Amino acid sequence: MIVTTADLFRVAYGRFAYGAYNINNMEQALGLFRGGIEAQAPLIIQISKGARKYAGVKMIEAIIRAAEEMYPEVIFAVHLDHGDEATCYDAIASGFYSSVMIDASHQPFAENVAITRRVVERAHDRGISVEAELGMLGGVEEDIRVDEKHALLTDPDEAAEFVRLTGCDSLAVAIGTSHGAYKFKGRQTLHLERLAEIQHRLPGFPLVMHGSSSVPPEEVARINAAGGAIDPSARGVDEEEFAKAVPLGVVKVNIDTDGRLVWTRVHREHFRDHPENFDFRKPGEIMMAEYAHFIAHKSEKLGCAGKLAEVRAALTGKE
Ligand code: G3H
Ligand code: 13P
Ligand code: ZN
Repeated sequence: MIVTTADLFRVAYGRFAYGAYNINNMEQALGLFRGGIEAQAPLIIQISKGARKYAGVKMIEAIIRAAEEMYPEVIFAVHLDHGDEATCYDAIASGFYSSVMIDASHQPFAENVAITRRVVERAHDRGISVEAELGMLGGVEEDIRVDEKHALLTDPDEAAEFVRLTGCDSLAVAIGTSHGAYKFKGRQTLHLERLAEIQHRLPGFPLVMHGSSSVPPEEVARINAAGGAIDPSARGVDEEEFAKAVPLGVVKVNIDTDGRLVWTRVHREHFRDHPENFDFRKPGEIMMAEYAHFIAHKSEKLGCAGKLAEVRAALTGKE
């Protein structure tokens, strides 16, 4: 059942967070829905501009609709990840999305406000909520490269002003994370003190953490042992930090890279161990099962595992 992102946030705020997973193909979608059932966790499905281009807008929607029919007990929202203004308008008009992200964080403050405000007006007319971003994550965001040295944490006063001026429904904050596999050199440095300051200025307002893959070293080691070449010093967000971020207002945690690592590990190991095989369904089946376990594991860490019945009751009045 597709629900609104705003409703999901209302139920969870301060108590648990949802994983928001980027989906590009059938195997990910089926693994995701099975993982949601395995964990009894509500889900947020993210579609990026890249996914819309890769699979085609119609195909990615059809995959999600089909998964919904196959697994009607799953509760989920569909979210446009890192939209530009035109893609947000397209997603809003389609009627398929629960929420959109307008990412104008690379623009000066006033321009970010103006663009976000326009998207909010259009989205709210259609009952769709809007995630905006303020501050800059390090690393690569879609096609925008931000030098890690100049990564800017979100300013708490600006965040409060930004929300007031734009009317956005949730805010992606820069607290030290970045996209991709190479987030930290050595120990991770999440700025939870900055998150606390932002929450202090925006009490009860849903906050979003992008770039939240954990890049497990054992996953990287298995990929490399099967022929991969990922820098073994790659470090991500410590999953134990999620529980600290939740009481500070984080309700949505974006995870894409870790799912890509699952895909890569499964396929590399399979073809290493079965060089004679050319039936892609064999690794595909393993991938879907492993992806489901991965979603269940993340849901435990985020606190949303076991919350399906509660969320269903809160949203529908039915057990
Ligand atoms: O933050 C971006 C997500 O990881 C989506 O990546 O644009 O390659 O689909 P993508
Ligand atoms: P990761 O690269 O850490 O998985 O971040 C994904 C993300 O923020 C998608 O918007
Ligand atoms: Zn992101």
